[in-house]
Amino acid sequence: MSTVAPTLPPSKNATDWWRNAVIYQIYPRSFADGNGDGIGDLPGITSRLDTIAALGVDAVWLSPFYVSPQHDAGYDVADFRDVDPVFGTLADADALIARAHELGLRIIVDMVPNHTSFEHVWFREAAVAEIDSPVRHRYIYRDGRGPDGAEPPNNWTSVFGGPAWTRETRPDGTPGQWYLHLFDSTQPDLNWSHPEVQDEFDDILNFWLKRGVDGFRVDVAHGLIKEDGLPDHFPNEGGGSMGGSEFIATPYFGQEGVHDVWRRWRRILEGYGPDRILVAEAWVYPLTRMANWVRPDEMHQAFNFPYLETAWDADAQRRMITESLAAFSGVDAPSTWVLSNHDTVRHASRLALTAVNPQGHGIGPKSAGLPIPDLGLKRARAATLMMLALPGSAYVYQGEELGLPEHVDIPDDARQDPTWFRTAGERYGRDGCRVPLPWEAEAPAYGFNTTGESWLPQPDAWAGLARDVQSGDPASTLSLYKAALAERAARDLGNGTVEWLDLGDGILAFDNGDVRVIANIGGDEVRFEGTVIAASGPVNDTVPADTTVWLSRR
Ligand code: GLC
Repeated sequence: MSTVAPTLPPSKNATDWWRNAVIYQIYPRSFADGNGDGIGDLPGITSRLDTIAALGVDAVWLSPFYVSPQHDAGYDVADFRDVDPVFGTLADADALIARAHELGLRIIVDMVPNHTSFEHVWFREAAVAEIDSPVRHRYIYRDGRGPDGAEPPNNWTSVFGGPAWTRETRPDGTPGQWYLHLFDSTQPDLNWSHPEVQDEFDDILNFWLKRGVDGFRVDVAHGLIKEDGLPDHFPNEGGGSMGGSEFIATPYFGQEGVHDVWRRWRRILEGYGPDRILVAEAWVYPLTRMANWVRPDEMHQAFNFPYLETAWDADAQRRMITESLAAFSGVDAPSTWVLSNHDTVRHASRLALTAVNPQGHGIGPKSAGLPIPDLGLKRARAATLMMLALPGSAYVYQGEELGLPEHVDIPDDARQDPTWFRTAGERYGRDGCRVPLPWEAEAPAYGFNTTGESWLPQPDAWAGLARDVQSGDPASTLSLYKAALAERAARDLGNGTVEWLDLGDGILAFDNGDVRVIANIGGDEVRFEGTVIAASGPVNDTVPADTTVWLSRR
């Protein structure tokens, strides 16, 4: 351990900071590129962190920056204790953590325990070991079915498409066993019944906690444990790619045993004090079941994906908010709110789609029901202003504060998501929400770097959305986010309560403390009285369609 990260300023020291925090997700590949190679990096992030602090958020969550061959944009980790050269060095990570703390920002890093990269030293070792060698038990190898074991051991499919099993080739060139990968074939699943796997992750958590991180966003926190015997699975109709709306446990997601892992991790974090947190990426339904991930001795928060997936419809939104508050408060956890992330179609596009688009499928030039951009942005601003008035903790994904839409027109040959390859182009995947950010309208790559390189092409129209263009404009989306975040903090909305009002069909209205929120989601224009604190679009004395206002009740 080289660096001891400075502690946060005293005003930021509350142990339950996460109960009402706004957490900004940085996707390192696409945030800021310090060395100009076209891929974002840690020094790039550090150099721009003050901008994020100035936005008014409490913490930053960083998607993975560990050593990785980048077959799934870093979610395929080859070494959990080091930084990939594409992103920088461990010293750069230390510098980033230190700078964040100086600015009063907490740092949450991503932890990916369900699988490793196929380039991880354990998997390399397993691949050349004798079939009965104990080193292979760290992964999930099985004999194939059928004559010569030529069929996969069961019928499970990968979240990214195609079978969840790949047959290995033995060092002598003959076909061997099959290994399980719920994601890409370059991401073999770990065997979490193995004590060495459990111990290894204890150690990895300690490694990063000692470096000063404030918590972990836990990847695929509904995975890890597989049902004994690995039985075939016949999903419900309509089940989405991450387990979908299925109410039953699958043999690979939502298994009861995973909760023991989270209890164990919680104890490790508590060894560092009460303020380090675990955030679950758990695609489990319904919310009352997801709440099991955030019981008092497990994780602190879970991403509220059912909220993200809720249609732009006043009744559906009200039901979902009510259900969320009830489900999470039932286990004494805050609800979270999230509208966009690196796996979903950006909400400035998603909210105006007119065709069903299952999570992870993405949109591209040939998708049905493509959004009208202006309508999408209008709804996104209204949705965000509503979200930021809710009690609990909210997540903001980089670029949404600029109103960035999904990049729909990425050429086929520029696409990188394994989903695109594993479905032979049938699903576009997630590249469209991962395009490098526009910082300055007139600079190369819009200021993402100084060379103009960009690992995914940036749309021409993004010049108009660049941060420098928006920062002086009071009507910009950036100004809306800043104003809303400042008011949310000043009025302590994150610790408040929701009291519903009935103002007519298509109108979602509630009071939280001294703020009245009115969102017109497809209703008639509704009149209001009172002082406007924030508005997602032009208002006089009525709230027009697809618009949210905050009014002062004082
Ligand atoms: C999570 C990540 C996603 C990644 C997958 C496999 O869902 O958010 O980006 O591809 O896990 O690690």
